[in-house]
Amino acid sequence: ARGVRRCEASLASDYTKASEVADLDWENLGFGIVQTDYMYIAKCGQDGNFSEGEMIPFGPIALNPSSGVLNYGQGLFEGLKAYRTTDDSILLFRPEENALRMRTGAERMCMPAPSVEQFVDAVKQTVLTNKRWVPPTGKGSLYIRPLLMGSGAVLGLAPAPEYTFIIFVSPVGNYFKEGLAPINLIVEDKFHRATPGGTGSVKTIGNYASVLMAQKIAKEKGYSDVLYLDAVHKKYLEEVSSCNIFVVKGNVISTPAVKGTILPGITRKSIIDVALSKGFQVEERLVSVDELLEADEVFCTGTAVVVSPGRICWQQRSWYRVSAAIYFIDKPADGPGRRLARLDCATELGVIKCSSS
Ligand code: COI
Repeated sequence: ARGVRRCEASLASDYTKASEVADLDWENLGFGIVQTDYMYIAKCGQDGNFSEGEMIPFGPIALNPSSGVLNYGQGLFEGLKAYRTTDDSILLFRPEENALRMRTGAERMCMPAPSVEQFVDAVKQTVLTNKRWVPPTGKGSLYIRPLLMGSGAVLGLAPAPEYTFIIFVSPVGNYFKEGLAPINLIVEDKFHRATPGGTGSVKTIGNYASVLMAQKIAKEKGYSDVLYLDAVHKKYLEEVSSCNIFVVKGNVISTPAVKGTILPGITRKSIIDVALSKGFQVEERLVSVDELLEADEVFCTGTAVVVSPGRICWQQRSWYRVSAAIYFIDKPADGPGRRLARLDCATELGVIKCSSS
């Protein structure tokens, strides 16, 4: 496995050029797992230090049946993307943000976490050794999935004695089958995603298993996903199972404040930065579900969903006219409405080249 890195290193000193592309149906990428070549793995024992890490062939891992992650859900994941530019460079979007978020989540879950430097370096190695799987420009992106788990054996409830940090990748297209068309969301008033004092603000694996039931019911009714309300007042918007939510009214863009029950999304933060820089007023606050009735537009943000316009159904009422036409928020040079553009790698916000240097 160590040979993988040596072999890569000898290929070229400039890792940013990556013209070789795998043989895949790039026109029909959805959001499913495609087996790629390599994955990164590093371990951390009782001393709290992670091993250097190495690239190994992508495939199953051995886990003790008594591991902390399998028994008590001591695990976190991240999601970020790499893009291929027209000149065949490979770009990453704000990977340090994911590294920092993993560190915050690890603290909450009583786990050691890799340093920001190790995380970003590991992401780069994983992308570069799998660079033929980065879709051609405009056809999608390489989704990067870092995982941190309690892999050591426990029986009584306690932090695991050993941790494993893995990164695997898969080329992806649109997350929702709707593609760029508005997704249909239903406001959920029975199930809640998170409670105050819980783990809603960290990317622990259990947050995602717990929404599967609501999502399944919604999908059976023809909706794309579920929009959760707060568990205390059952009135304020929280987030969608897989992404954050924004509500637009005139020049004001509102989104639920990050107060412990919603995920501090990196795309969320980026959209706020872009919106402010374009002269929109952005409010991070309690957003009541009633405000959907008045909204001009609603959209969701996330690494997987990017920015998806939404249409919302609430309390059996018919669809509200809340579809968004925002991609990369911008004011039109001319004409009404907002200009559509894509939040791909084109943004100047924190894009770094996937270079090893
Ligand atoms: C992401 O957007 O990267 C996520 O982690 C959401 C996941 C449900 C695909």
